[in-house]
Amino acid sequence: MHMKLASLILAAVAGFCPAMRGAESIQPGEVWLDNRGQPIQAHGGGILRLGEVYYWFGEDRSPNNERGRRYVSCYASTNLAQWTFRNQVVKLADPEQLGPGWVFERPKVFYNAATKKFVMYAHLDDRRYKLARVAVLTCDTVAGDYHYLKSFRPLDHESRDIGQFVDDDGTAYLIFEDRPNGFHIAKLSADYLNVESEVCLIAEHMEGGAIVHYHGLYYVLGSALTGWNPNPNKYATAKSLSGPWSEFKDLAPPELKTYGSQSTLLLKVVGSKTDTVIFMGDIWKPRAQWDSRYLWMPLAISDGQMHLPKPREWTLDMQTGEAKIQK
Ligand code: DGJ
Repeated sequence: MHMKLASLILAAVAGFCPAMRGAESIQPGEVWLDNRGQPIQAHGGGILRLGEVYYWFGEDRSPNNERGRRYVSCYASTNLAQWTFRNQVVKLADPEQLGPGWVFERPKVFYNAATKKFVMYAHLDDRRYKLARVAVLTCDTVAGDYHYLKSFRPLDHESRDIGQFVDDDGTAYLIFEDRPNGFHIAKLSADYLNVESEVCLIAEHMEGGAIVHYHGLYYVLGSALTGWNPNPNKYATAKSLSGPWSEFKDLAPPELKTYGSQSTLLLKVVGSKTDTVIFMGDIWKPRAQWDSRYLWMPLAISDGQMHLPKPREWTLDMQTGEAKIQK
């Protein structure tokens, strides 16, 4: 009874509509509806957790969006299954005169407690993906309208796909793919408005970068460079973010190409009984991007091995941290 009251109060604080819609389970690959009954538009996304509330930001590829603009939507949830639409937080017109087909992908939002600013990073590019920069936008509230600040090449390197990682001690990192050199893990500046220092360069050509710290070991995950087509995503482990990193191993049987998906984030949910790490991936539909789907599954991790189980409907107990995959 008390739990129910607590979650109702939380829902009110997070601005949820009273009538929650959508299933309490997660169904990988299916159309995922928000509280309005509309397909969630948060592709190539990231998650920001504030207390008990998770905010999911991602590319909004709705077919009725204005052609010349790029959009990011934000959704909120306390159970990671039912999401309430909060706002189209970015409705950006070509900020650097990049021309038709300009690219704004994989938005990731960090909260800076010192400046009290929400800071969004995204991959900014021209239609041929030659600019290879990050864009930085900020906002005073989590789901307000984000304002474009600037763009740059982090540490003067090319940067295409980006990933976010916030370590258990709160330190914020950006992972970025640099075609000539590899996969960078870099620390953000104190105000998060710059990429300050390199922590590690992994000399592998991978994108869709994601990291998690789980039971004393760091896991880095990424995909091969095959455009919108799926490939076998791989992971490596290290005791420290600066490495040395192990060899990269397959996350799932390689012939299944990550079940048709591509990594975007590893999300750790810490519960009273166990911790669950969720693989968040995109099942891209390049000819109908708005209908791209999500593949979220709890990972099986033990003895430094990480495995993506066959996608099936599953539920997560947010209190205990236990995931239950349907048979
Ligand atoms: C793969 C990347 O992961 C996506 O974000 C997107 O940039 C496509 N390439 C474009 O081909």
